[in-house]
Amino acid sequence: MKNFQYYNPVRIVFGEGQIEQLSDLIPNEARVLITYGGGSAERTGTLDEVRAALTANDNRSVFEFGGIEPNPEFSTLLKAADMVNEHDIDFLLAVGGGSVIDGTKFVALVSSLTESDGTVSRDKAWEALTSYCKNIDSAVDLGAVLTIPATGSEMNSGGVVNYSERQAKLPFNNPLAFPKFSILDPTKTLTLPERQVLNGVADAFVHVIEQYLTYPVNAKVQDAFAESLLKILISEGLAVKNDPDNLDTRKNIMWTATMALNGTLGAGVPQDWTTHMIGHELTSLHGIDHARTLTILLPSTLRELKDSKKEKLLQYARNVWSISGTEQGQELDEDTIIEMAIVYTENFFRELDLPVSLADAKLDASMIEPIVNQLEAHNMVKLGEHQTNDLAVSRRILERAVTSKAS
Ligand code: NZQ
Ligand code: ZN
Repeated sequence: MKNFQYYNPVRIVFGEGQIEQLSDLIPNEARVLITYGGGSAERTGTLDEVRAALTANDNRSVFEFGGIEPNPEFSTLLKAADMVNEHDIDFLLAVGGGSVIDGTKFVALVSSLTESDGTVSRDKAWEALTSYCKNIDSAVDLGAVLTIPATGSEMNSGGVVNYSERQAKLPFNNPLAFPKFSILDPTKTLTLPERQVLNGVADAFVHVIEQYLTYPVNAKVQDAFAESLLKILISEGLAVKNDPDNLDTRKNIMWTATMALNGTLGAGVPQDWTTHMIGHELTSLHGIDHARTLTILLPSTLRELKDSKKEKLLQYARNVWSISGTEQGQELDEDTIIEMAIVYTENFFRELDLPVSLADAKLDASMIEPIVNQLEAHNMVKLGEHQTNDLAVSRRILERAVTSKAS
């Protein structure tokens, strides 16, 4: 295991009816800006619950900013940041999924980057984003009410912002973006369209994989934890598809997705975010849902990198998919075992109605060159646990992804 520091200050408030805790979680005198997405929070009544909890205390001033898009847009977020300054907001409350929470984190980080006229500077905010918001040293406090289990944003300090005009979807990370708290009420996920539920399972699955499927460093806690989370996502992913109203299943999916990307699994182990980084370009250029970019790319990434990931792929086959290594008394060779594990993974995604190739997403090989160019423009030229996944490797991953190899 490598040396590491582990720090996660996010208070999790989990369970049905917990939104009313907001009244205690946010300071009494706070000037609060509620941020939300395209309307689901209003339609489902979640926003009304939030309003009621916040105004239980008359000293709070509450403002609202709606319209944060899936894959939150830079320009929209700057408008919210201006509102922070205009109304002296000192607490941001994100009500929504990863996009609203990520967007709100960005607002919290950039609202102090103003021009002399007091508006938030587009140039400074862009510069901050292109350096992953690492150098920002003050931020507005924020909390979250999570409505879709998927990204883990509710318990981490990262985010991803889309800037359409520049065809860029870029990640950032700053400890000041940890929410002070996140409320996880699993009943809020019952209104999600099936597609979003299954997307969420896949996103969490790939988060675990990218912190697990690298090379062994004898990290027993992280490995065992990762394998358990993967098995839970496989069983609960299939369960939620067949029985979407089962609240126990929803609870388990919600907590698993949070644990999948809150720093616990990734502490002290190598990580490989190649699938995510190429996936962001697919979303940026082709508007494909985040999780779907991952299910398209992961099988090809594993096939392309199977030599450098061999030991962990064999461990994954054995411990997650229970592939014993023998068939009808015959020992299987390592390549066969690894290919079986990748095919099982593809079949799992297919059972969740997720695409596993570019063809499944109605794209062909002509999209490869523009994606590779975008990766270069965004300096994604040394990806992976060994930082050896250059543009040639990414190109080969995309070529493999054109059609699926799964039977
Ligand atoms: O916009 P509204 O109307 O709210 O509708 C949303 C949106 O259309 C809807 N929705 C959310 N909760 C609902 C609901 N509909 C009905 N009932 C509910 N309870 O779902 C749609 C998708 O929402 P979104 O927030 O975009 O989904 P998700 O949570 O999957 O977030 C995706 C974003 O997170 C980023 C992705 O890149 C993408 O931009 N990620 C953030 C990460 C992080 N912060 O650590 C890591 C991830 O890898 C990921 O990159
Ligand atoms: Zn993700």
